[in-house]
Amino acid sequence: MADKNSKLGAGYAGVQGGLFSKVTKADVGDAFAQMAGDKVILMGWADPFYPDPSIPDVVKQTMLEAFTDGFASHYTMPIGSLELRTEIAKKVKAYNHLDVDPRRNIIVTPGSDSALFFAMHIFMNPGDEVLVPDPSYPSNFLNPKLMGGTAVPVPLKAEDNYRFDIAAFEKAVTPKTKMVLITHPNNPTATVFRKENLEELAKFVIRHDLILVSDQAFEDIVFDGIEFVTPASLPGMWERTITVCSISKGMGLSGFRVGYIVACDAYMDVYYGAAVNVLGATNTASQLGAITAFQNPGFMQKYKQHYDRRRKDAVEILGKVPGVSIEMPESGFFCWVNVSKLGDSAEITEYLAKHAKVAVNDGVNYGAQGKGYLRIINGCLGSDEESRQALERIAAALVRYAGENGK
Ligand SMILES: Cc1ncc(COP(=O)(O)O)c(C=O)c1O
Repeated sequence: MADKNSKLGAGYAGVQGGLFSKVTKADVGDAFAQMAGDKVILMGWADPFYPDPSIPDVVKQTMLEAFTDGFASHYTMPIGSLELRTEIAKKVKAYNHLDVDPRRNIIVTPGSDSALFFAMHIFMNPGDEVLVPDPSYPSNFLNPKLMGGTAVPVPLKAEDNYRFDIAAFEKAVTPKTKMVLITHPNNPTATVFRKENLEELAKFVIRHDLILVSDQAFEDIVFDGIEFVTPASLPGMWERTITVCSISKGMGLSGFRVGYIVACDAYMDVYYGAAVNVLGATNTASQLGAITAFQNPGFMQKYKQHYDRRRKDAVEILGKVPGVSIEMPESGFFCWVNVSKLGDSAEITEYLAKHAKVAVNDGVNYGAQGKGYLRIINGCLGSDEESRQALERIAAALVRYAGENGK
């Protein structure tokens, strides 16, 4: 393996987190699986209730039937079952305020990670630049590179409540800019971008004739009555916005691997045309389960109450640690914790895995602006009590770490 990189495509050379890497990232390699084997609680994996079960009975029943009647052994079309696309279209109309045709504007994907890649890939040429708010989901920084382009970070600042700063976007745009890629609500800051701020961003996107890819994996979990606005629904944006959604988070069905893309006819024509090459097809039993979940969404309300309790627990428990600051998350089931007064966030992440036996994420994985922060998943584990105990362990270890380092 003298010079593996000489054979690789340029975008893949230097990819970290695989077999030979010492980097510990939640979503790559097997470092987290090894930690789970060592009885470390994984509060760095955005998997609701993990490792406890979260399949509603009605969905479980559908899945069992898919296997007993044997249909689960067959393909659906690469673009996804029409029945599922029809259910998704109803949800998209009601929640995202987009009146879409299930035969033309929706494609089902194996999760939204692959959807995100596919969503971007049809636009990218070598050298293209993608504006990525920083901090945001780690894939957003790597995906442009894998496609031969470049991610250009655009800082989001805590003092601006992590809103888009359009002046910073204007500063970052060049003739090579192809796209803006946002995670909305944002992971890791749990920010729900407000309508006025999205309107400003939309004007910027239109002014520079760009594409907007909007990853809305956490769109179902928005608290405190904050209005969730889908950028594709804003004036002039439907024709230039690709919306990516998932059943992994709000429905707690991450293992089903079902996501979807919503787009206008012109671009969906390309997604449909290339679907068999890129996606194959999404798992048939999972699609059947997803249909039932969309038809019976009541359980999501219960999950949202669970996530709501958890965010309050996290703020209460971690907020008590001297030197640590944490804002109430506006969405999702994770919190963004400023530990910069205590020391280096990478070192603290390692300390917590070793001494509190809890794995969290170093904020640096979410972009340079994440230095000094931890992202902690408070929506894992089925039991509130176990979750509180894990958070208490983190809090106690942070106090100990601060003492040992004279803070
Ligand atoms: C912001 C964001 N987008 C997309 C995904 C991918 O989710 P999935 O592939 O399970 O739909 C995740 C998973 O953690 C995420 O946090």
